[in-house]
Amino acid sequence: MAENRDSVANTLTVAVGVSLVCSILVATASVMLKPRQQINETSFRQQIVLDVAGIYTPGMDIAEQFAAVDTRLVDLASGDYVTTMNADDFDAIAASSDQTLGIAIPAEFDIAGLRRRAIYSPVYLIRENGDIRQVILPVYGPGLWSTMYGYLALAPDGRTVIGLRFYQHAETPGLGDQVESAEWLAKWPGKQIFDDHGEVRIEVVRGQAGAGDDLVHKVDGMSGATLTGRGVSKLLQYWVGPNGFGPFLRKLDDKANGNDGTSQGTDRTNRR
Ligand SMILES: Cc1cc2nc3c(=O)[nH]c(=O)nc-3n(C[C@H](O)[C@H](O)[C@H](O)COP(=O)(O)O)c2cc1C
Repeated sequence: MAENRDSVANTLTVAVGVSLVCSILVATASVMLKPRQQINETSFRQQIVLDVAGIYTPGMDIAEQFAAVDTRLVDLASGDYVTTMNADDFDAIAASSDQTLGIAIPAEFDIAGLRRRAIYSPVYLIRENGDIRQVILPVYGPGLWSTMYGYLALAPDGRTVIGLRFYQHAETPGLGDQVESAEWLAKWPGKQIFDDHGEVRIEVVRGQAGAGDDLVHKVDGMSGATLTGRGVSKLLQYWVGPNGFGPFLRKLDDKANGNDGTSQGTDRTNRR
């Protein structure tokens, strides 16, 4: 008797077989493409670092350009460089949830709402004839809908903004995504993150920053996106403050002023 090829059993066998083969193909592709994805991700971030520093040349190999960047790992509590781990491989976001490499941020210091952070962070130094010309800090924190990840480039004084870029977020197109717009980002260079007493003062205001002495610390808000702007203020204030890169920036500023980077004395230096 001829076999019924349209039987329920046959249909199920074929369906399961096809699903199995497809799953194996997708899983294999995903595993095989993982290294490629990681390379692309690294390259993308390197490009942003070069771009925020204003030294990215389109069309040139990114890894080659990035070879000029001195990547260091900083112990955020002390502000000292860490030499026992490879800065290139350190994933500060993954480390933030690690038992050893991450810490819970006490609520009273958690102005950006991060909850946890890594104890170390990479920083990127742009040098000229050995001297530091720019310091690039990874910064991140919540906007209105999403965590925004970016880089802040500072002059060697550790206080003057050279540039800001966000490379990942899920804020609303046309509203919060102005954090990526060239027009808004052009408002940042030259802004001062601290006042003369070392207090963190950088802030995205609602509407126009207006005039006055404190204009140097204030950046115009993004129209229709005050809440995303507030997120940018908070995350920057956290990361440049005493519980973020403050100790590192203080040492950098001391060096820029010709000190050895270990002074503890003034009001200004103690606050960061
Ligand atoms: C669908 C939708 C998406 C929004 N997305 C954002 C956003 O990404 N960022 C933001 O700050 N505000 C966003 N808003 C607007 C906020 O709710 C709020 O009105 C705005 O931040 C106030 O900014 P303004 O003071 O400049 O008007 C969105 C509103 C709606 C209805």
